[in-house]
Amino acid sequence: MKKYRVGIIGCGAIFMVHAYPLHMLENVEIKAVCDIKPQAREMAAQLFNCDAYEDYQEMLKRDDLDVVHILTPHYLHAPMVIDAANSGRHVLTEKPMAISVEEAKAEIEAGKRNNVTIGVISQNRYNSASVAIKEAIDNGSLGKVIGQRILLSWFKPASYYANSDWHGTWDREGGSLMIDQAIHVMDLARWFVNDEIETVQASYSNRNHPTIETEDTAEGIIKYKNGVQSVFFATNNFTYNSPVLVETHCENGMALMEFDRAQITYRNGRELNVINDPNDTLDEDAYQAFFNQPSSQVAIKTLTEWGVVGLPITWRTPRAYWGVTHIKQIRNFYQSLEKGVEPDITAEEAFKTQALIMAIYESGRTKQEIKLH
Ligand SMILES: NC(=O)c1ccc[n+]([C@@H]2O[C@H](COP(=O)([O-])OP(=O)(O)OC[C@H]3O[C@@H](n4cnc5c(N)ncnc54)[C@H](O)[C@@H]3O)[C@@H](O)[C@H]2O)c1
Repeated sequence: MKKYRVGIIGCGAIFMVHAYPLHMLENVEIKAVCDIKPQAREMAAQLFNCDAYEDYQEMLKRDDLDVVHILTPHYLHAPMVIDAANSGRHVLTEKPMAISVEEAKAEIEAGKRNNVTIGVISQNRYNSASVAIKEAIDNGSLGKVIGQRILLSWFKPASYYANSDWHGTWDREGGSLMIDQAIHVMDLARWFVNDEIETVQASYSNRNHPTIETEDTAEGIIKYKNGVQSVFFATNNFTYNSPVLVETHCENGMALMEFDRAQITYRNGRELNVINDPNDTLDEDAYQAFFNQPSSQVAIKTLTEWGVVGLPITWRTPRAYWGVTHIKQIRNFYQSLEKGVEPDITAEEAFKTQALIMAIYESGRTKQEIKLH
């Protein structure tokens, strides 16, 4: 069995969500990690017994890397994806693939030019609820899609932005609510409809986050070529991260996705209910056991001796809210490499949602309807 040798760029909050599944995959070996913050990269390298780099270009000079994961602030995704692809590596990058349409296109071209695979994370497509709805639409049992509504009401306190050197900025995050949070639900909704988007009309504003320059609220309408109209409202001004909702109205019934549940109601009275099975994604006991195994304990002791106080909370506790299916997408990515086929979510596929998000911003900025096709 071929072993894929991996380098990870970015050892921040989302790091363990990639590193742990990679560590558990039989055909993967983490060889190197990279972060400009010494403490972050040393913690990661100690824990996975690999080399640490400050400069990702230095890491790319190694001759023993097959795949690079990119988990950095948004504005760095495109240059890092392109550099990794130009060095002949396959790439799996966190969402969004870029902060502009031009950069996203350049990534696709770099992938083709170098004959490497570029995958983009959109892990919620692997939730059992999402899969059930996608199947019911694609197998024709729900009939044609007629319309759709999307609702996201989340909570981002001022401290979330105060503690970050890139969130809440146009040049580094590329926006906030839409490109960072709502992108997940917009991607699911677009994937359910599965048609070309014709036009987007949208508005966005910052209503309650005076310390940031980007948006905390947005709404709009997306018109697809097949006539489907999808309406959305999203805000980060609620008091908690309430369940996201996508309701897809079809000829033969309704497909309602609410948080981790799907309720598919057919006009003939049949009903299908699907709930995500958390055991399907992460064995919490095994995850905790990882930190208790002797090599992790040695790493944690070494870090303590260096004066590093404790691993970040985002590493010690598995993600408890919506979106814990990274493990499935990561598995699909490596299985696809092994088989020589495309992964489920290629750069081309991610581009369709990227173009939608960019059109929402453009429409909000120009107050015009934006034509995509
Ligand atoms: N799919 C999901 O559900 C999900 C959830 C959270 C975050 N994310 C995504 O993951 C990515 C990272 O988010 P995060 O929350 O871990 O951010 P973070 O700020 O916690 O971590 C980013 C890390 O990148 C490092 N970094 C910055 N510049 C660098 C450079 N030039 N070279 C190497 N390292 C550099 C930082 O030092 C930091 O440690 C973002 O794209 C974010 O949208 C996805």
